[in-house]
Amino acid sequence: MLKVEGIHSYYGASHILHGVSLDVGEGEVVSLLGRNGAGKTTTLRSIIGLTPPKQGSILLKGEETSGQKPHAMARRGVSYMPETRGIFPSLSVYENLTLAEGRRPGPWTIPRVFEIFPRLEARRSNGGAQLSGGEQQMLAIARALLLNPDLLLLDEPTEGLAPIIVQDIEERLEAIKHEGMTILLVEQNFRFATNLADRVYVLGKGAIQWSGSTAEILADQAVQKTWLGV
Ligand SMILES: Nc1ncnc2c1ncn2[C@@H]1O[C@H](COP(=O)(O)OP(=O)(O)OP(=O)(O)O)[C@@H](O)[C@H]1O
Ligand SMILES: [Mg+2]
Repeated sequence: MLKVEGIHSYYGASHILHGVSLDVGEGEVVSLLGRNGAGKTTTLRSIIGLTPPKQGSILLKGEETSGQKPHAMARRGVSYMPETRGIFPSLSVYENLTLAEGRRPGPWTIPRVFEIFPRLEARRSNGGAQLSGGEQQMLAIARALLLNPDLLLLDEPTEGLAPIIVQDIEERLEAIKHEGMTILLVEQNFRFATNLADRVYVLGKGAIQWSGSTAEILADQAVQKTWLGV
């Protein structure tokens, strides 16, 4: 589905990604782990076209997409949920969802996201700003799903949430995974990420430092300690 090869990305003159390569197969959940400032968000921004790489290649379903704009990537089937969540605080839950629905044909509709997130249906008339952190996160994921992506990029869906809410989000994403969604999940929460992911990449200092199966990283204390501080 996605093949990133040797990308170098910059913010102005700051060289942030130093040849990052990773791939995500259809139907896989792949997690990108790493400490603060490792370059996780920059990797997602590079893929979606917000911080286009100056070197390297990004293949989506075999086609080169490096340098494509975010709206073009959305049309090609990539949905991006940023760290900032990107919901409209002054609009209701339902309005937030309506704005995301129907741009690309596919199975995800508002009734279907209400099945996965019944909490959002209960809060459908509430304003975005009145939602709890967990509800805002659910709304952000629901909006990303309504674009009917082939590939979902999620940036730290558990950030700032209480453990019980993290558990809830994990169950919802598990259900979404079982529907066959391909997901690249950026996380700092090691347990959450390894519960969901089939494979893991560890990013450090703007480069991939380790990659392997979830079972392998769970057994590798040295990698956890050196690159993740678990
Ligand atoms: N807009 C920007 N301008 C300049 N430097 C930036 C900018 N955004 C991020 N950086 C720097 O790029 C590096 C990688 O940042 P990035 O946001 O990709 O890390 P991250 O792994 O997502 O971290 P976190 O876990 O804190 O979200 C950091 O050193 C950061 O300070
Ligand atoms: Mg980040």
